[in-house]
Amino acid sequence: MSATVVTGIGELVTCAGADGGTPVLGAVIPAGDRLGTVVDAAVVVEGGRVAWVGPGRAAPEADRRVDVGGRAVVPGFVDSHSHLVFAGDRAAEFSARMAGVAYDGGGIGESVAATRAATDAELRGLLRRRVAEMRALGTTTVEVKSGYGLTTTDEERSLRLAREVTEETTFLGAHVVPPESADRTAYLDLVTGPMLTACAPHARWVDVFCEPAAPRAFTEDEARRVLLAGREAGLGLRVHGNQLSSGPGVRLAVELGAASVDHCTYLTDADVAALVSAAGRTVATLLPGVEFSTRSPYPDARRLLDAGVDVALATDCNPGTCNTASMPFVLALAVREMGMTAAEALVAATVGGARGLRRPDIGRVAVGSRADLAVLEAPSHDHLAYRPGMPLARALDLP
Ligand code: NIG
Ligand code: FE
Repeated sequence: MSATVVTGIGELVTCAGADGGTPVLGAVIPAGDRLGTVVDAAVVVEGGRVAWVGPGRAAPEADRRVDVGGRAVVPGFVDSHSHLVFAGDRAAEFSARMAGVAYDGGGIGESVAATRAATDAELRGLLRRRVAEMRALGTTTVEVKSGYGLTTTDEERSLRLAREVTEETTFLGAHVVPPESADRTAYLDLVTGPMLTACAPHARWVDVFCEPAAPRAFTEDEARRVLLAGREAGLGLRVHGNQLSSGPGVRLAVELGAASVDHCTYLTDADVAALVSAAGRTVATLLPGVEFSTRSPYPDARRLLDAGVDVALATDCNPGTCNTASMPFVLALAVREMGMTAAEALVAATVGGARGLRRPDIGRVAVGSRADLAVLEAPSHDHLAYRPGMPLARALDLP
């Protein structure tokens, strides 16, 4: 097996200190440095895994050398929440919203119609382009949900195509009751029956949009039914909750031991306490691009972090509430608008997402972890929020 040494790393953020992870060989990382920063560093990669991390002067010989010229390197971003399988766009809905129309999930039907009408080749092309956009902005792992098909055939197809680009696929047949379905119970029978059976082989996770303020989304009891059926089919659990109003989503996610509950914009003290009790099991995934694109109040990240909740950041890239593939944009929002420090935002966008996907092999740069690196057109990670909107991060392609 041949090895590559990445040299000339001005600042390497390993995130290995984020939860006392694997110590970095040969490098002195001050106690309390959650970022696990190594200055003038090198990384050796072998067989797609990190084989060595430390100061450049101590780097071992390797078959190939890639020099990044003093730039910063961080773990590739883990975007643990996206809806990339869709056709069409809803730019007019966005503009209407900016002119004062409220969001209630009602536009999802338009994306469902466009997605059903697209051919496999069209959807595949759109999906690949979106994943390439993400990679060009530093994302090395992305979770992709179905949810714009909402028939057995269209959900199965969405997940089959998503599986071509990621292992982290999520069955979201319970996104909304589709426009043509007048009978909620009949639709739930389908989602928890034949649709689940067809989709489970292509999915790792099941998700549900549990939101009292969205008329076509699901109630607590309906959501519990979807999640329990998904678990029975061997899927891990995720929940869309507390996005538009305080509701049962967080409570349900914690009760069932979901890996993540996403949005968390409207939380009661009891919700926060439940998330604290679930630390190490259920991650609160914040999606501030949604609040940006719906002109809504941002989730209170400080409250969660100060209470000891595990927090992740993700894009929620979707045609309705947040059409961006940019994790750096999300990081900048988290720092500027949600009271997160630059370090906290970076940890949430890497280790946080990895925890939310229960993937200890990604989100950090440590011996044995996947060699998923992002290189910054900057000397330090602070530039991600300091220079918002600039194309600073890209996934590092290694030979
Ligand atoms: O995560 N909350 C539900 N689903 C998406 C948006 C769906 C849409 O409007 O198309 C979200 O925000
Ligand atoms: Fe979402």
